[in-house]
Parts: sequence; structure tokens; C-alpha cells
Amino acid sequence: MNTTRSTALFTKAQQLIPGGVNSPVRACKSVGCDPRFIAKAKGSKIWDVDGNEYIDFICSWGPMILGHNHPAVKEAITKAMEHGTSFGAPCALEVELAEMVVDALPSVDMARFVSSGTEATMSALRLARGYTGKNVVVKFDGCYHGHADSFLVKAGSGVITLGIPGSPGVPEDIVKNTVSIPYNNIEVLEKTLRDESLDIACLIMEPVAGNMGVVLPKPEFLQAIRALTAELGIVLIFDEVITGFRVSYGGAQSHFDIMPDLTCLGKIIGGGLPVGAYGGKAEIMKHISPEGPVYQAGTLSGNPLAMAAGIATLTELKKPGFYETLNAKAEKFAEELQGIANKHLDKSCLNRQGSVMTNFFAKGPITDFDSAMTADADKYGMYYREMLDKGVYLAPSQFEGAFISLAHSDDDLSRTLEITESVFRKL
Ligand SMILES: Cc1ncc(COP(=O)(O)O)c(C=O)c1O
Repeated sequence: MNTTRSTALFTKAQQLIPGGVNSPVRACKSVGCDPRFIAKAKGSKIWDVDGNEYIDFICSWGPMILGHNHPAVKEAITKAMEHGTSFGAPCALEVELAEMVVDALPSVDMARFVSSGTEATMSALRLARGYTGKNVVVKFDGCYHGHADSFLVKAGSGVITLGIPGSPGVPEDIVKNTVSIPYNNIEVLEKTLRDESLDIACLIMEPVAGNMGVVLPKPEFLQAIRALTAELGIVLIFDEVITGFRVSYGGAQSHFDIMPDLTCLGKIIGGGLPVGAYGGKAEIMKHISPEGPVYQAGTLSGNPLAMAAGIATLTELKKPGFYETLNAKAEKFAEELQGIANKHLDKSCLNRQGSVMTNFFAKGPITDFDSAMTADADKYGMYYREMLDKGVYLAPSQFEGAFISLAHSDDDLSRTLEITESVFRKL
């Protein structure tokens, strides 16, 4: 595969942008190769600047659930653009998307739009602290909630991928207000939440973890979380930046029937444009400025192009049978992938929730950060490089999910399986 142009761009980018990328995992360090620079995308495919074609399983890290450049989304953005790209003032599209979000998520009475998932979680944390008058946030090892200071403690995603425990630049004073505990461990959870020496404002979690690879919550774990936080007056925040509109139209909360107090959204609600949101019970949301005292603002929040893309995306997702079709596609693919893995690998464990999955190079079961860390990341690197060279674009880390979109055809998926089998045979 010729990658001359990507190589040249990466060389130049490294002089101009730290690490040559604007988000660390994209540099492909943990999989031992250089990134491909992408020129265009359509449906299930992306093409790099050298003209190489790939079947894309990153899907922009989740947002492209309809596939790239979906006609309805493109049309909505184009139409909105005719009226201007940013007003810095309220617009009708914000109200329309807010109504769709409130209708979709049973626990959300009101929502505030921001421009990224990080902004959503950071703002929800401030709100929870402002509402309760307490400071401590409890999170789970290996969960990622964006890059705000308070969450960079035992975090997932790029933080695991690059093998760093946290981040310099995060003051000790902030770290001491973050308590990180193991996922799926009810005993530690209960002990922590009942610890009266902690001044706990909120517990934030990914209801299905996606940033240490996909890790499913035990049903009794989610139930214990809801019961304990309700009993102890701790604000429960579901970070549904990945799971919102992915696990079901009503997010993971509808799928598991567990209602958080606050929900963070991102990715899919922007249809590929930069959008995040946080929402929840009116009683809590009314503490946000200007209705209440907790300050949060944004120059480009509620941007009309982003709102239009979100509305168009959600309109497609609402169509009858969307999730049944998508999840059936993903289930069939996962079953066949598992079959191939069982045949050729000595260690493999596939975790899947609907249309997002991780095949761990590990014996499994993978239920938390420690078990995820048993995966053979070097082997994943070899697998990644081979797949990339054969035209399959996977996440450049063992500790991320593979996303299936509606645009992945039967042919895309069977071709991917054939390539996978040829690569697994050699590993
Ligand atoms: C669960 C979760 N929360 C928050 C974020 C941060 O979102 P963003 O990258 O849009 O800031 C991510 C990003 O991957 C995420 O997966």
C-alpha cells in the first residue's frame, strides 16, 4: 500500500502540531505505525490522501452511526448553512433538537447544548457540585469522561493506550476530589459511597464502558448504583457520550431501565459535527445559569449547523426498525468474528453491546480495568497493522470499540471477516 502522502503530511504535522495530531490516539503509537491522513469518507468507507480505500470501523469514534456523509444529514447541514453558520443567539433548531433529546431520554426533562463530550461531562460535574454543595466525584477505573482535570485519574481511552497513570498539569487539589474504583465491584462501590469521610457530590459512569474496550455492566451493579446513590443523595451521572442513541434510541438508560439524575451526551447527537449536551431532572438543571447560579456558557453552543446535523441524524434513527436492523447486523458479524477467533487464537474474548464491540486478545472474561489489562496489546498492534494494510480501518488501540454503522453492507462485513481470518491465521 502506497502511503507516501500520509507519511509526508505526518512529518510536516509533527513540526506544527504536538505529536502531529489533534487527539493522541490518532497518532497510532500503541499499534506501532504512523497514521493515515484521511481525504474523504462516504457510507462505510474512508479514503486516505494516497487514494487507499478502507472499510471504516472507527466511524469517527461513534458519531457516524448512519455511515459517512449520509444524504439526509448532508442536506440538513447545507440547508442550514444557507442561513448563516453561527449566530451566537438562540435559534429554532436548538429548541427542536432539545425536544428530541427530552423525548428520547426518559430521565431528561431539560438539556443544555455544548460543543463536545468533554464540555458535557465537565459541566455536569460542576452542576452536581453546585447542586449538592459537595466536592468529591466517584468514577470507575478505565472509564473515560473526556479530558477535564477531574476525570484524568485512572482514565480510559488514550490515557490507557499511552499507558499513563494520569496527567501532569492536573493539580493535586483537584485529584484529591476524584475517587476512582473498580467497575462491576459492588462491594467496593458500597464501601466507598457509604464512607462518611468523603464529601461525595456525584458518581459518574459509562453505563456500558467503552474506553477500556467494551465492558458490560452486570445488571445488579447498575441496580446497586442507582439504589445507593438515591439513598445517599449522591447525584448519579450517566456519561452516555458513546451509548446515547447507540445502545438504543433512549440510550443505555432505556435499555437497562435505570434512570440517572443527569445524562451527558455527545458524538451521535451532533451527526458528525461538534456537539455535546447534558440534561436531567428539571429540579437539578434549573441550577444552571441564567436560571440558577451554576455558570456554564459557550460561544458556539447550539450552533445551527450542528443542531441541523443532530436533528437529521436523530430523525433517521427514529425510523421503525433502525436499531433492530443495525443490531442484527452487528450480532451476526460478532458471532462470526468470535467463531474465527476461537478457531485461530489461543486467547480471545469478545464483548459487545448492540453495534459496538471489542475483541480482546485475552482469555477473559473482561469485566473491569484489571481484566482488560490482561489483553495482549502487542498482538493487537500486529493485528491492527495487517488489517490496515488490507483495507480495514480499526481503532488504533486494543482498548477502544469497533463501531458498526447502518452503512456497513453484508459485503463489507463478510470481506472484513475474510481478511480477519487470513490475519488471525498468521498471528
Ligand atoms: C464516554 C465518553 N465521555 C466523554 C468523552 C469526551 O468526548 P469528546 O471527545 O467529544 O470531548 C468521550 C470521548 O470519546 C467518551 O467516550
